[in-house]
Amino acid sequence: MNFDFTRKLMEWNSAENNRSMPWKGEKDPYKIWLSEIILQQTRVEQGLAYYNKFVETFPTVKKLAKAPEEKVFKLWEGLGYYSRCKNLIATAKIIDGDYKGRFPSTYEHILALKGIGPYTAAAIASFAFNLPHAVVDGNVLRVLSRYFGMSTPVDSTHGKKLYNQLADSLLDKESPGIYNQAIMDFGAVVCKPQNPLCSICPQKSDCRAFQHAWVNDLPVKEK
Ligand code: ADE
Repeated sequence: MNFDFTRKLMEWNSAENNRSMPWKGEKDPYKIWLSEIILQQTRVEQGLAYYNKFVETFPTVKKLAKAPEEKVFKLWEGLGYYSRCKNLIATAKIIDGDYKGRFPSTYEHILALKGIGPYTAAAIASFAFNLPHAVVDGNVLRVLSRYFGMSTPVDSTHGKKLYNQLADSLLDKESPGIYNQAIMDFGAVVCKPQNPLCSICPQKSDCRAFQHAWVNDLPVKEK
């Protein structure tokens, strides 16, 4: 591992991360996909019950593809953003038809599916297939902007490019899935948006935001 950041993150993950969620360590791309679509606009605490209901009712992508659509929408009720549910159904049918029910296993094929953007494609590719694609979500942006003391707006054109490159360079290429889950958990548990736990943070001696007391000013957003 090239970078102190990566090494310390992986050490924290092995020794201290006790965040537990049903999709953690999951290898079935279908279940990972379900969890990531649910979590796109929904908090983990609310998403949990929906994830469990979906996995129980539709244990395979084939079962989801063949289900009456009103049954799927019924199960989605309360989550909002119904385009997610429409895309879920459409994509399940495509995987069932074009891929004979087997979830595609390359980043490019996954990214080409409806409702799947770069974040979700990287999550599925790394968690299910151990492919070296870094996830970049709000947690990752916050952790990186603080650690490197970067005030480039994370939602600017330049910022997106910069953070994506940085995230890719820090990724643990041997264990991309474990690394990706670890950095999201680290952002959710330690490097939180409000009241981050800097006093117990294993990265604090190298964190530029901590050193300069910028923690509460980062990340910067344009909009
Ligand atoms: N939010 C989106 N995906 C997540 C994941 N895999 N773990 C925790 N939070 C998430």
